[in-house]
Amino acid sequence: MDNRNNNTNFISSNSNYSKLQYLNKIHLKSKNSVFKKINIDDIYKSYKNKNVLVTGGAGFIGSNLVIKLCEIGANVLVVDSLIEDYGGNLFNLEPVKDKIKLNIADVRTYPTMLYLVKNQDYIFNLAGQVSHIDSMIDPWTDLEINCRSQLTILEACKKNNKDVKIVYAGTRQQYGKPNYLPVDEDHIVHPTDVNGINKMAGEWYHILYNNVYGIRACSLRLVNTYGPRQLLKHNRQGFIGWFIRLILEDKRIQLFGGGSQLRDFNYVDDVVDAFLVAGADESANGKFYNLGGKEPISLKNLVELMIEITGKGSFEEINFPEDRKKIDIGDFYSDYSKIKNELGWEPKVSIKEGLQKTFKYYEKYMSYYF
Ligand SMILES: NC(=O)c1ccc[n+]([C@@H]2O[C@H](COP(=O)([O-])OP(=O)(O)OC[C@H]3O[C@@H](n4cnc5c(N)ncnc54)[C@H](O)[C@@H]3O)[C@@H](O)[C@H]2O)c1
Repeated sequence: MDNRNNNTNFISSNSNYSKLQYLNKIHLKSKNSVFKKINIDDIYKSYKNKNVLVTGGAGFIGSNLVIKLCEIGANVLVVDSLIEDYGGNLFNLEPVKDKIKLNIADVRTYPTMLYLVKNQDYIFNLAGQVSHIDSMIDPWTDLEINCRSQLTILEACKKNNKDVKIVYAGTRQQYGKPNYLPVDEDHIVHPTDVNGINKMAGEWYHILYNNVYGIRACSLRLVNTYGPRQLLKHNRQGFIGWFIRLILEDKRIQLFGGGSQLRDFNYVDDVVDAFLVAGADESANGKFYNLGGKEPISLKNLVELMIEITGKGSFEEINFPEDRKKIDIGDFYSDYSKIKNELGWEPKVSIKEGLQKTFKYYEKYMSYYF
């Protein structure tokens, strides 16, 4: 009997946060449960003096990765277009502004990428149009950035740097609305929006170039990521940044459909580690891996936790707006046992600790993000 969905009933009818710990213990598959042991400091050391290009490096996840790479001694080149209303923010790079090379350029431009990929040991490929809503309003731009430019980057590597290792930022959105939970990599991909389709194609170009041309590449399918340096200016880049902003402003959050949807979240430091682990491990080449959170949690519980941490904000439950409902995926949480077994990555930061760090950052630097 397939009882994978049973976990959902357990959690959605339950608002007791401590019981989520129980779900955490059972939401990974037990099969293949030989977990690879790694020493993250050895992985960090492998980047010392290496040339690393981070596309989208002024954005949320990219900038946190850039800061870590500088800390561990890599020579970092950031490429970011800083398109208005996207997540690029020069303040994100403030702590390392004297250590990096920054090229304000667009990954859509082949001659530029042809030049920039030269002599890089690694490319962490995070540049992207990340708004699902925008991808439905303007599908062509999403196609250009999330799909066509991936070919541009890979073709540039094929011509000028076949020895590079690339780690691509895929997304759980590629799976669409889950057929079962937790979602593992065997789950069919059937995206519910243009962004998910283009990200899926972008990922598969990487796998293809690995398999056909030997350009070492792999993909991480990220779940909702949160933490310092995330865009908070508008609500089109996903709900978590927007919830954080509303809490900071002591405003009321509207929970579509009552907020019973389950999601898993990664604190950005864990995601940064996943990129570094996947980049350093040759056995990742040609593969894709789910990331995933320690604790699946309902959106209502998430907001309650934010309110508890900050003492600010409130929420109300409302019906789903039509444009959001059509592309909503309902409950989602991922099974990350493949990356845990094969590469030794697992999330370390609990949602409570991650949110505490996040609010601390924004309380200090709020003016750079509003
Ligand atoms: N944040 C998440 O929860 C999440 C979840 C799944 C996947 N991802 C993926 O991770 C990657 C990074 O996401 P993020 O949350 O840091 O978003 P972000 O918007 O903060 O960062 C993306 C960066 O890419 C840059 N960019 C966009 N188009 C570009 C172009 N044409 N040329 C050069 N730079 C360009 C933007 O300026 C921005 O700095 C994206 O590829 C996204 O699809 C993120």
